[in-house]
Amino acid sequence: MAKKKMTVLDFKKYKEEGKKFSYVTAYDYTIASIVNDSDVECILVGDSLGMIMLGYDSTVPVTLDDVIHHAKSVVKGAPDTFIIGDMPFGSYNVSIEDAIRSANRLVKETGVDCIKLEGGVEMVDTIKALVKAGHNVMGHIGLTPQTATSFGGFKVQGGTPESARKLIEDAKALEAAGVFSIVLECVPSVVAKAMREEVGVPILGIGAGPDVDCQVLVTQDLLGMYGDFKPKFVKQFAQIRQEMVKGLNQFHHESETGEFPTPEFSFNKAVEIPKVYGGK
Ligand code: KIV
Repeated sequence: MAKKKMTVLDFKKYKEEGKKFSYVTAYDYTIASIVNDSDVECILVGDSLGMIMLGYDSTVPVTLDDVIHHAKSVVKGAPDTFIIGDMPFGSYNVSIEDAIRSANRLVKETGVDCIKLEGGVEMVDTIKALVKAGHNVMGHIGLTPQTATSFGGFKVQGGTPESARKLIEDAKALEAAGVFSIVLECVPSVVAKAMREEVGVPILGIGAGPDVDCQVLVTQDLLGMYGDFKPKFVKQFAQIRQEMVKGLNQFHHESETGEFPTPEFSFNKAVEIPKVYGGK
């Protein structure tokens, strides 16, 4: 049975009901359609596509055109799944007008259900303007990969009482500005728990422990597909990379030995071949 697509209103409802849900990334039609066949409720077309799909070292070089290109195929592949379009670095930090223009393009050209952007209190005016312009906005605080170099790289955030307090203040400011949910990345579990109790919108945790409203992971990480790096918070629920290499090696082997293709995988119609081409 096809699942019922989640709506923006369900985010708050699920939190109030204590119903936990899940959220993964996808960047292409095939993976999106596989997620759509699963019970996972949300897909993020994340700027992590820079590393996962394009082989970059970080999310910083990803452009709005890159996200739009990938999001179009995800929307086609996952009609029953709530889809989030990530605003890449440079698409919302020039001016509020520019942020609205970028969000308009992302939503109008792809059909994603909402946009996500990184940042705390410093993003409040931009978020308010985006909400006023009619956008559903998801926040993202804690480890914010687009600006990670300014706080010393990919590190756990909120590890001191002051930084934990600042993160909770950020979450409250984002809620007041109108976000409908907040991604919280790479923080101690106790910080996520305290934040979840302080704000009315769902906390979507990635590396934020068990006391959040929704668990988020990158699909290629959780399925064991991405070979370059495995963060501590990633549990691999399958070993798809190994299975893929195994399948590719079997194809290679049977191609070398001639075991593939058998008549089952060939077009076997008898056709008279002209003599010049080796016929009788
Ligand atoms: O781009 C991404 O994959 C993300 C997740 C880490 C939430 O922003």
